[in-house]
Amino acid sequence: MKFHSLPALAATALALAVGATAACGPDPDRIDRVLALTGTASSGAAVYTRACANCHDADGNGTSQPMSSLVPAEDEQGLAQVVAGGNHVPASTVTDQEAADLIAYLRQTWPG
Ligand code: HEC
Repeated sequence: MKFHSLPALAATALALAVGATAACGPDPDRIDRVLALTGTASSGAAVYTRACANCHDADGNGTSQPMSSLVPAEDEQGLAQVVAGGNHVPASTVTDQEAADLIAYLRQTWPG
């Protein structure tokens, strides 16, 4: 293989990696988008009830699922990774604005 073909190979590998990330892994762009929004805690309450309370319980202690207590809440960065990163909460479950509202709600309800 000639040396000058390496950058092209690297670019292909990068494109593949980016594609795979968009499909199922963490999505840093979405995390940044959500962190840039202003969340409304009162709106986040309804999102929590709809999308999270099943497992984390209304009081956030999540006693029905191991290791799932949200009390105290992580900081905004940590919560954004969970809520908008795509690994824990599927992107289709909450919109960007709902994710921001949820973060505001969690931070206000169970401050860390
Ligand atoms: C199907 C059940 C389920 C649903 C629905 C769910 N979670 Fe979780 N969650 C868990 C479990 C179990 C854990 C602990 C193990 C892990 O990290 O995966 C967890 C962990 C977490 C953590 C990390 C806790 C910590 O501080 O270490 C956060 C934050 C979180 N969930 C937020 C949410 C939010 C917000 C929603 C709603 C959008 C949600 N989860 C929906 C089951 C769930």
